[in-house]
Amino acid sequence: MTIPVLTIDGPSGAGKGTVSRLLAKKLGWHYLDSGSIYRSLAIALQINSVDVADTNAIVKVAEAMTLEFECGDELQVKLDGVDITPRLGLESTGVIASQIAAMPEVRAVLLQKQQDFRQFPGLVADGRDMGTVVFPDAENKVFLTASAAKRAERRYKQLIEKAIDANLIEIQKAIEERDRRDMERASAPLAMASDALYIDSSELSIAAVIEEILNLIH
Ligand code: C5P
Repeated sequence: MTIPVLTIDGPSGAGKGTVSRLLAKKLGWHYLDSGSIYRSLAIALQINSVDVADTNAIVKVAEAMTLEFECGDELQVKLDGVDITPRLGLESTGVIASQIAAMPEVRAVLLQKQQDFRQFPGLVADGRDMGTVVFPDAENKVFLTASAAKRAERRYKQLIEKAIDANLIEIQKAIEERDRRDMERASAPLAMASDALYIDSSELSIAAVIEEILNLIH
């Protein structure tokens, strides 16, 4: 029997993480936050002082790193036994992650690490290429997006709530720049799978998005 997978792809800040985590909980399935794998590698490169343009060195670090995930209220990640959770969400980590994610050699090394998450009774996988490349045979696929302005506003609120200094205009610029890099790269660009359900969450609550996705599954 094949293990069911629900893929949720889309640009950063569309609400994929929150929606995927809640759905995994409701369904009793495992959860893969694939962005956190790219982010963990970005942190590993910083720790090892590896140049983000040195593909060979990056591939070596990607092959050697061990990751342990713990999915409570917040995702906790250990890189080679060290808790890196506080650094995962930093904007600087996301920028490096999106730079190295453009390298096909890096994506190839990380592919199996992501596919290993497919375990009984099922998996909710969140990312950019879950439905197109990593789990093309998933029976349920969603492309979740929202306007750049709305995504910037949400990110701004998150940062302010955490008492982190933030500038809305700069956040929107960074989001647009990351979208551009993720969509224009040659290797597994951010794109909607032809068999995915398109959801624009700009004017929708999290609960409404979840309901729409549960309708798709049932
Ligand atoms: O989703 P998140 O913002 O954590 O992802 C960080 C970066 O990792 C993205 O901007 C993207 O470049 C890359 N990524 C990817 N493929 C995925 C998930 C993330 O290329 N499946």
